[in-house]
Amino acid sequence: MKRIGVLTSGGDAPGMNAAIRSVVRVAAANDMSVVGFRRGFNGVLMQSKDPADDFSILTARSVSNTIHRGGTFLMTARCTEFLDPEVQKRAVDNMHALGLEGLVVIGGDGSFHGALALTNLGFPVVGIPGTIDNDLSYTDFTLGFDTAVNTAVECIDKIRETSDSHERGSLVTVMGRNCGDIALHTAISCGAEFVLLPEKPWSITDIAHRIKWGVLQGKRSTIIVMAEGAMESQTDDIVKLCEKHPEFNEDGHEVISSSRLARMLEKLSGHEIRATVLGYIQRGGSPTPNDRLLASKLGAAAVELLKQNIGGVAVGVRDNKVVHVPFEETFGDHRLINTSYVELLDKLST
Ligand code: F6P
Repeated sequence: MKRIGVLTSGGDAPGMNAAIRSVVRVAAANDMSVVGFRRGFNGVLMQSKDPADDFSILTARSVSNTIHRGGTFLMTARCTEFLDPEVQKRAVDNMHALGLEGLVVIGGDGSFHGALALTNLGFPVVGIPGTIDNDLSYTDFTLGFDTAVNTAVECIDKIRETSDSHERGSLVTVMGRNCGDIALHTAISCGAEFVLLPEKPWSITDIAHRIKWGVLQGKRSTIIVMAEGAMESQTDDIVKLCEKHPEFNEDGHEVISSSRLARMLEKLSGHEIRATVLGYIQRGGSPTPNDRLLASKLGAAAVELLKQNIGGVAVGVRDNKVVHVPFEETFGDHRLINTSYVELLDKLST
């Protein structure tokens, strides 16, 4: 191949810039030129008035000073239009018109579906897992996960200081969609007492009871890390709980907000609990060295595969080795939670 494209798609993740840089520089070392598309698959559809707003040639120099920057300088988007087969064909035609022979897509599960559609139309695409959620089961780590955990731990270290000073508990919600990896790794690293995961049943009354017990044992503060999808695995009958405690009702909403959950835990445990939602702070920031290294390795692997005309696969790491698997194998399987980490947290939090 002489010319390839690269784009970032879905939620941004720290390390995406380092991956683009690696793609561009390894391609240059192989005498291949690179076109960078802006705003994910939208750039490939070339619908802007000014083509320069959709794509540009990336040279080794245009990726200087990017390895340490969070976000993605190519910008990103979730492109629902791309589900339409006619739109996918248009994308392939546009890429052929630019003289492209392959494409690197940096994103998560949704982006890999778009990448597979292009591959099925005969256009070779290689995927790089870019999402803070670490929710792709074929790879041990996705780009941005390490940085997100690092950021969450830094924030909770600060929350712990104020919690401890006031002898309060803190319920901290972290991102991760339906995957509890950010929550679990963060909880162990910040010395949390509890972690609430989408993958493991838990109950409000049980956690409240254990908080109460901890206070009786002399714990001054309690840190509870909650994955944003964890309410799915809560086992208490919320309706009954609200009947018993009408003060838990909140505007008729079925989904319990973290501030409401904190109030419930406070009432049931008799210990003051405050809620913090970390939110988008976890998606920003300079990537950690681990994420920069992973991005550099995966960017290089993606280019090497395209050079051999191999597409339809996503690159990742297993046991510290770079691997590639067909896109179809990256879908479906829910990532299993590391049960030894769950047990470890239980032991460490006594
Ligand atoms: O997939 C990354 C992620 O940050 C998830 O953890 C979160 O659920 C979601 O994206 C938020 O998406 P949006 O950027 O659309 O608010």
